[in-house]
Amino acid sequence: MRVATRMTTIGTESAFEVAARARALEAEGRSIVHLEIGEPDFDTPANVRAAAKQALDEGATHYAPFPGIPTLREAIAADATARKGFRVTPDRVFVTVGGKGVMLYAILGIVDPGDEVIVPDPGYPIYESLVRFVGGTPVAIPIRMANDFRLDVDELASLITPRTRMLVVNSPANPTGGVLTRTDLERIAELAIRHDLAVLADEIYSRILYDGTEHVSIASLPGMAERTIVLDGFSKTYAMTGWRLGYAIVPPTLVQTYSQLIINTISCAPTFAQLGAVEALTGPQADVDAMVVEFRARRDLVVDGLNAIAGVSCLRPTGAFYAFPDIAGTGLTGADLAERLLHDAGVCVLAGTAFGGVGTDHIRISYANSRKNLSLALDRIRGLVESLSATGTSR
Ligand SMILES: Cc1ncc(COP(=O)(O)O)c(C=O)c1O
Repeated sequence: MRVATRMTTIGTESAFEVAARARALEAEGRSIVHLEIGEPDFDTPANVRAAAKQALDEGATHYAPFPGIPTLREAIAADATARKGFRVTPDRVFVTVGGKGVMLYAILGIVDPGDEVIVPDPGYPIYESLVRFVGGTPVAIPIRMANDFRLDVDELASLITPRTRMLVVNSPANPTGGVLTRTDLERIAELAIRHDLAVLADEIYSRILYDGTEHVSIASLPGMAERTIVLDGFSKTYAMTGWRLGYAIVPPTLVQTYSQLIINTISCAPTFAQLGAVEALTGPQADVDAMVVEFRARRDLVVDGLNAIAGVSCLRPTGAFYAFPDIAGTGLTGADLAERLLHDAGVCVLAGTAFGGVGTDHIRISYANSRKNLSLALDRIRGLVESLSATGTSR
């Protein structure tokens, strides 16, 4: 069957493909430590599961209103007002299938063919993929380790052209764990206002912050709520990846756009899952706090372990659950090292280039795995890297 021409422009998220390859090796009897997927290994908190089960038993098996059930939109608006520092009303909240849904609708709804969208490199690969898919042009803003994995605002300014339509800001970031400062965001906001840009603010990791780092939503800055689509959700904060629930907070000008796109695609997010999400937001938050404490301990285990390996250099990120070490000193590229780690050492990580060209000398490690598995992975990584230097392998 003939496939639409536009399918030649769509990209992928290689984490899913690499995970499938790792599982195939496991099926052959190999032991693999999975550090590829950005997914908390914890179970969804029990109170949230209980609320969804009860919802099912009470008949929440029908369509919900397309923007989301009212109680969930109210809970999101209250939570976002408290945490994100600007007034969010329920009429501007849309519940979507995963945070990915928010991204899809923002790009479908705003980007015309020929428009330029500035995306982080390294960055979550779906931004770039969807921009190309709708005929837009992704323009990469480099995110460098030398700048603490924060974008350089002067460099950003130099990339803006009359065709620039949207800017994607992801803080805390996948794949680097980098967090933008309030000053960075203020300067980015000033550019967005001056050049009349829409901003897609991907805040899916905004509750996973360490060492007292504050979460600043760019939408809370003066003049920004009118031009920002906030992307957030339940997948990472509440270990609810399989529930497929995210949400958008949109400016009034996009309410109609989001309404039409949701009606044309999903009709609504699953009703009983939304009732579980109400409990997630309004119930006790102790499980979230405990997960963040555990992630922080794992971060230190991984960062210290990586920095103890010759040829590997890793920043200590203050957000999300990823490490993005520079591995140039091993003599391999990130892609080659990732391949060798999977096949020769039984550790599945992603090549930095899965997130853009700037990541050539990096691998991405998701430390959303037990400390026991992380320690095992670190031993295996050290063993492989030492064997490389012993055999003099180089590029
Ligand atoms: C930066 C970023 N945004 C959005 C998403 C998508 O989240 P969801 O699973 O809720 O669709 C992810 C998932 O990995 C992510 O890393």
